[in-house]
Amino acid sequence: MKKNILVVSCSQSGQMTDIVSAFTRPLKDAGMNVHHEILRPQPAFPFPWPFFDFLDAFPESVRLAPRPNQPLAVAADAPFDLVIIAWTVWYLSPAQPTTAFLQSDAGRQLVDGRPVVSVVACRNMWFSAFDTLKTLVAKAGGRVVDHVALTDESPALATFITTPRWMLTGRRDSFLGLPPAGINARQVADTARFGAALAGALARDEEKRGTAMLRGLGAVKIVPHLILSERAGRRAFSVWSGIVRRFGRAGQRRRIPALCLFACYLVLMILTVVPASFLLQKLAAPLFARRLAAVGRRYAQPSGTESLP
Ligand SMILES: Cc1cc2nc3c(=O)[nH]c(=O)nc-3n(C[C@H](O)[C@H](O)[C@H](O)COP(=O)(O)O)c2cc1C
Repeated sequence: MKKNILVVSCSQSGQMTDIVSAFTRPLKDAGMNVHHEILRPQPAFPFPWPFFDFLDAFPESVRLAPRPNQPLAVAADAPFDLVIIAWTVWYLSPAQPTTAFLQSDAGRQLVDGRPVVSVVACRNMWFSAFDTLKTLVAKAGGRVVDHVALTDESPALATFITTPRWMLTGRRDSFLGLPPAGINARQVADTARFGAALAGALARDEEKRGTAMLRGLGAVKIVPHLILSERAGRRAFSVWSGIVRRFGRAGQRRRIPALCLFACYLVLMILTVVPASFLLQKLAAPLFARRLAAVGRRYAQPSGTESLP
């Protein structure tokens, strides 16, 4: 049976657009109606990012007070069987265009009562942002039934340099012996297998069950020490975003001193606290093994880490 699928995405560099196109090709090939809605913040965020614009996006991203999107092309009461939300992470939160969509009247109406498949592509820290996404989807009356996470496969230390370089210059090529930034072409092409599995499940009406359709495909990888680092980062971001917002609204020059302080804090944390807490967590891992495993199991839901042959 022909199903109606809404895909909502946003991408600055085009990376997420490539992922959506590989992911949805099998759905289109199976004859499904795929409507792709590209979220367009108004005014648009620049890419590559000027340094202060990049920092200035921080408080409103964390506080879920995003810049609004342009009106959607699709009617809010259009009858979709499934919604795919393809999103990225900004400052440990879903990117502003996604949170603006999920908090808008039209977005909430489109998600209400529908199964939602979440597809995230980011550097490597999606765990707490995924909690936020699930909460926003639930508040809109929808339910995340599957979650696929794509992260940069390069060493984390390298991506601390290559991701900001990409965001601030637009260049993602290899430099100084470091690997190229972002999700590689093999990972992008590989997302077609999720689309193919989804097409099969939709043909069997499985979306009506409200349970995961993409299990056994290794949809996510869990890195327990990142989950704990993110929790500490979220707490600090919550305090810092409040401080910066006291200095002025988004875009106001009055925020520059507070943003500069935040930037210094961020660099200091990346150079000192992140490696120290990584080491500490590695050393203390046996003591927290059960707790870490439990946290890992929680974030593996709903689609799972296991790859079945
Ligand atoms: C302002 C900003 C903040 C970001 N913060 C994070 C982050 O906290 N964690 C992460 O893994 N990636 C982060 N990223 C990387 C994005 O999630 C994403 O991978 C990148 O922006 C490419 O997405 P695109 O398809 O929109 O170009 C950030 C990017 C931007 C622009």
